[in-house]
Amino acid sequence: MTDGDAILRVRDLTVHFDTGTRDAEGKPRVVHAVDGVSFDIRRGSTLGIIGESGCGKSTTALAAMRLVAGARGRIDLGGVDLGGLEGEALRRQRHRFQIIFQDPYSSLNPRQRVGSLIRTPMALQDQGTPETRDRRVDELLDLVGLRPETRHLFPHQFSGGQRQRIGIARALATNPDLIVCDEPVSALDVAIQAQILNLMKDLQAELGLTYLFISHDMGVIGYMCHEVAVMYLGVFVETGDTRAILAAPAHPYTRALLSAIPRVDPVNRSLMAATRLSGDPPSPVNPAPGCRFAARCPHAVDRCRTERPALRPVTLGGMERSVACHFAGEI
Ligand SMILES: Nc1ncnc2c1ncn2[C@@H]1O[C@H](COP(=O)(O)OP(=O)(O)O)[C@@H](O)[C@H]1O
Ligand code: SF4
Ligand SMILES: [Mg+2]
Repeated sequence: MTDGDAILRVRDLTVHFDTGTRDAEGKPRVVHAVDGVSFDIRRGSTLGIIGESGCGKSTTALAAMRLVAGARGRIDLGGVDLGGLEGEALRRQRHRFQIIFQDPYSSLNPRQRVGSLIRTPMALQDQGTPETRDRRVDELLDLVGLRPETRHLFPHQFSGGQRQRIGIARALATNPDLIVCDEPVSALDVAIQAQILNLMKDLQAELGLTYLFISHDMGVIGYMCHEVAVMYLGVFVETGDTRAILAAPAHPYTRALLSAIPRVDPVNRSLMAATRLSGDPPSPVNPAPGCRFAARCPHAVDRCRTERPALRPVTLGGMERSVACHFAGEI
């Protein structure tokens, strides 16, 4: 994924967590949470990251915002080399990123009134005066579909969906360049999910927002994301235009993920029936060499267990994307 108009460019992002323990041979046990991930996000667009729980989605997003100690890689946010900043210089860039979390219940301080919750990010960044911040709070509440009077209430006085609206208002407060949405609707009822997703889409159209959108739900990704990165055990296995990938998934893991949702295309259905996912993903601790998906892949051969496949361009169904599989386009 590369683009001249990218607001965020990430190269070779790597996050390893040392467990402090050793394996039977005395080798340190290291969690390879993120292993050399690269991506661009175009201004005003949405990049999705999809994958099973524990594959490294949240760590990728947090590391891209410089919120993970010990992460390596290059991060460029709108021309600023974020990877090279520390201390106060990094703190001054913080307003450019905001996060919307999965669980609006735990991500909002229960003792803070809504007005103060939304005002805090602006105050922390010394944006505006107390008066302009108050006006902005009312404006933001209105934008997310809440009445300005609700600024005096506490989070527990709202429903789950309303609380997520408050989370969105708070994320918008500093006019960020990028909003990370980490499973923002996974904790909500399906009917409410649609309202929140539509609100996020409307806000994107109105304000030109850029989202990094994390989900384990292909339906949600298909609805929200212009581009998608499919993640498996710390690496991206397929990236590109969401519609192209949904219409003709090339990586065996993407096909397996898609086989879990109802499909209309009988050709794809027969393809995917051969790639049912079974069992849990293997451990991200000291992963074996070769393809990360080899242990669960129905097409794996010896080469897959020794040689790691790089992401490379593949055209399928007339549309290009990048795929990390030795046999992409052939199987
Ligand atoms: N602070 C941490 N210390 C050690 N391991 C971690 C830490 N944060 C995440 N991990 C591990 O890194 C892997 C990726 O986690 P995460 O990014 O949360 O995955 P996802 O968001 O896709 O569910 C998991 O194996 C998780 O247990
Ligand atoms: S490289 Fe081999 S194991 Fe990995 S996805 Fe492709 S066929 Fe399967
Ligand atoms: Mg996560």
